[in-house]
Amino acid sequence: MALVTSSVITLHINGERYSLPVDHRTTLLDALRERLDLTGTKKGCDQGQCGACTVLVDGRRTVACLQLAIAAEGREITTVEGLADGDRLHPVQQAFLDLDGYQCGYCTPGQICSAIGVLAEHAAGWPSAASADVRPAAGPPPLTADEIRERMSGNLCRCGAYTSIVEAVARAAESGPASRTAVVPGPKEPAA
Ligand code: FES
Ligand code: FES
Repeated sequence: MALVTSSVITLHINGERYSLPVDHRTTLLDALRERLDLTGTKKGCDQGQCGACTVLVDGRRTVACLQLAIAAEGREITTVEGLADGDRLHPVQQAFLDLDGYQCGYCTPGQICSAIGVLAEHAAGWPSAASADVRPAAGPPPLTADEIRERMSGNLCRCGAYTSIVEAVARAAESGPASRTAVVPGPKEPAA
């Protein structure tokens, strides 16, 4: 029996639907950047260590270099290109802009997507290694700078903009639920 090594898959990205043939070994990151021209998501290490490729999959942060594109079929994928509502930036984007949460900006799309995931995880009561009391009854711990640093520790910034990034995440949290939700309109007709 012949081995099937490629398939036509349909990806739901930023409210659009894309059908494309892929080799089964294609990562979601390469599908986004090389096949669909969605180059906002960056490739740093390509091995799950830097966080530059972070996107949201069904609202959860995911490193796209470790996710096969074919395994993302049917999931709602949000990249940095899908966060703004027209000219209105997502609260996390706005906070990064207002507080200079970047220098070269290469890590920034991943930092922003990760921060949205962090705020959602925190609001859901998930503890981190920095949480003093991890019992469910304790509820969400205060979102201190230490909490933010720990929760964002999978996203490296070689410019060292960490101080401003922590401040930006804390500022974005003040926007409440809007800060932890990716605004994605419903799927439209196939875009490719
Ligand atoms: S490029 Fe995916 S974690 Fe570094
Ligand atoms: S802003 Fe340059 S790598 Fe983070």
